[in-house]
Amino acid sequence: MENKNKMEAIISLCKRRGFVFQGSEIYGGLAGTYDYGPLGSILKNNIRDSWVNNFVHDADNMFLVDAAILMNQKVWQATGHVDSFIDPLVDDLVTNKRYRADHLLEENGIDANVMTVEQMTSTIVEKGIKSPDGNTLGPVRKFNMMLETKVGAMEDSSATSYLRPETAQGIFVNYKNVLDSMSPKLPFGIAQVGKAFRNEITPRDFIFRLRELEQMEIEYFFHPDVAWEPLFEMWLEKQKSWLNSIGLKTEHLHAYEHPDEGRAFYSKKTVDFEFEFPFGTKELTGLAHRTDYDLGKHTEWSGQKLTYFDEEAKVHIVPHVLEPTVGLDRATLAVISSAYTEDGEGENMRTVLKFEKHIAPIFCAVSPLLKNKPELVTKAREIYTSLKKEFGRIMWDDNSNIGKRYRRQDEIGTPFCITIDFETLEGDTVNTVTVRTRDDGSQKRVAISELVTFLKS
Ligand code: GAP
Repeated sequence: MENKNKMEAIISLCKRRGFVFQGSEIYGGLAGTYDYGPLGSILKNNIRDSWVNNFVHDADNMFLVDAAILMNQKVWQATGHVDSFIDPLVDDLVTNKRYRADHLLEENGIDANVMTVEQMTSTIVEKGIKSPDGNTLGPVRKFNMMLETKVGAMEDSSATSYLRPETAQGIFVNYKNVLDSMSPKLPFGIAQVGKAFRNEITPRDFIFRLRELEQMEIEYFFHPDVAWEPLFEMWLEKQKSWLNSIGLKTEHLHAYEHPDEGRAFYSKKTVDFEFEFPFGTKELTGLAHRTDYDLGKHTEWSGQKLTYFDEEAKVHIVPHVLEPTVGLDRATLAVISSAYTEDGEGENMRTVLKFEKHIAPIFCAVSPLLKNKPELVTKAREIYTSLKKEFGRIMWDDNSNIGKRYRRQDEIGTPFCITIDFETLEGDTVNTVTVRTRDDGSQKRVAISELVTFLKS
């Protein structure tokens, strides 16, 4: 299937089946915002839970925080976001539409990663690059991506705050609180999952580039004297194996190491995992060695001592930091596009979301063969209730006929469908049900007493 069509099919399925809707849709939308519907919310939650389970609950020395989105403006002055969290912006001189200059250059086969805005301007002129509407472009300018807001009743500059552009700083400002309350030993990590906001010039590609997004980040603090390269490799491996566990295949993931010129000046090394999205191979995760830059800057601006006491050497040190990060919306889109499959041809064509079982929004659907036969409905309800207690993500489905139910459940990625029919009630097969498996459409009779074991296995 052509990638453009695949993306259109995914967006349409997401809306039709309650995964993702345009934000504020009944008012014509708000660019760069999307709302997750009943199934999308569960899918996103499952991915978030899987990340927290893997990186926090199953890990040693890892602490979860949930910091405020609004932070003291000094946080963003200290980190340099106020001065340099910028994107290169360029205007179409006829329509006044705004574009990311680096994206326009990229689309013309030019890598703008390491260019200054002046270099981008001269390249646009030299190569005669026009806007997507074919018009002349103005000079490239810097545009700060932080969304500014006012906090409290005062309107002066002291009231200025920002909707955080990354969750990472909520971790750094709580470094001392975690040290004082939990007494962790190096190396240790602090994790956070939460919303972040970026005034992207050109939000695009569905939930890939958003203005309101969700991040899952870890700051992993380690002694500056230990060799960091093996730790970096360890984190790359951990990121990859988690991505595999949510259904993203290794062959669709590509490690991209940022060149020296393209990295933040304080970073020793940055490696992204890019994923083959239908619209191109693009960044999904990041892993950056941030040295002691953030703790150093917050020490300077807050006047607080953000050190760690090395008991062996009896000295205070400032830990260095590795930062594994992933966007939850991007992970959700990667999971959907990876799971999206069209099987068969013509009338027999079926669309299936082949989600991993622990990620699928609905684990199993339960149906009576006919909804107007009380004896079938009663038995089906009994089974539905007991499975719901065991697994939670169980759906009652008695809409239309059984064939259509299966098609619908395939489209929302339900791994199993259970049907209660007349053979459940009498004859040789009494107390058995039909279990249909999503991926190959196979059907099997399973004893009701064996259902939980069967589904677990
Ligand atoms: N604390 C480091 C940091 O924020 P980043 O590369 O700017 O690094 C981390 O963002 C991750 O957040 C990215 O790898 C991506 O998955 C996600 N992300 C960044 N900008 C995004 C956007 N506008 N929309 C959706 N996800 C985004």
